[in-house]
Amino acid sequence: MHLRRLQPSDGAFMLALLNDPGFLRFVGDREVRSEAQAVDYLQRGILRSYAEHGFGMYLCERRDDGAPMGICGLVKRDSLPDFDLGYALLAPFAGHGYALEAAAAIVAEASQRQLPRILAIVQPDNARSIRLLEKLGFADRYLQPATEDDCALWVYSLSIDAIESHCATVHEPDAGA
Ligand SMILES: CC(C)(COP(=O)(O)OP(=O)(O)OC[C@H]1O[C@@H](n2cnc3c(N)ncnc32)[C@H](O)[C@@H]1OP(=O)(O)O)[C@@H](O)C(=O)NCCC(=O)NCCS
Repeated sequence: MHLRRLQPSDGAFMLALLNDPGFLRFVGDREVRSEAQAVDYLQRGILRSYAEHGFGMYLCERRDDGAPMGICGLVKRDSLPDFDLGYALLAPFAGHGYALEAAAAIVAEASQRQLPRILAIVQPDNARSIRLLEKLGFADRYLQPATEDDCALWVYSLSIDAIESHCATVHEPDAGA
C-alpha cells in the first residue's frame, strides 16, 4: 500500500470511484459522470484541501503494481468542528484489509500533525465501515439526527493521543513540486 496525493491526472480513477456502487450507496451521489467533471471535482475539493491545510484525501495504490484502489484521508467540513476520516475503495479491492491499513496510516499522520482528535461520520447501516472504525479505536459516538438533506449519521470520535500505527506512510510531494 502506497498513499500519495491525488492529481488532476487521476480523473479517470476518480470517475470510477465516485460511481462505484458502494460509494453511491454509503457516501453519496456527487453527480460526476465524465472524466472532465471528475477532474473539476478533484480541483474543487481534494486539491483545494492540500492548498488550504497541507493535507487531505490521498490515493491508495497497490504496492505491487501501482493500481489505484481507493482514497483515504482527512476532510474538514463546515458541518463538523474537527477533521474527519474518510475512505472508500473500488469494489474489487474491498475485503483485503487495505482500508484498515490506509486508515491506520492516516490516524498516524493526524498524530504526527498533533491533531488532538479526529471524527468520522457513517450511516448506521454501513456495517463494514463501522467495523473498520471500531478496529481503529473509534469508540465514542453520537447519533446526528436526519436532516432534509442527509439521513441520520453516527458521528464517531477518536482521541489520537498515544495511538501508534505505522502500517503505511503518506508520501508527500518533494519540496517545490
Ligand atoms: C468501508 C470500506 C472502505 C471497508 O473496506 P474493507 O476492505 O471491508 O475494510 P478493511 O480494510 O478493514 O478489510 C476488512 C476485511 O478484509 C479482510 N482481510 C483480508 N486480508 C486482510 C489482511 N491482511 N488484514 C486485514 N484484513 C484482511 C478481513 O477479513 C476483513 O474482514 P472482517 O472485518 O470481516 O474480518 C469499503 O467497504 C468501502 O469502500 N465501502 C464503500 C464506501 C464507504 O462506505 N466508505 C465509508 C463511508 S463512512
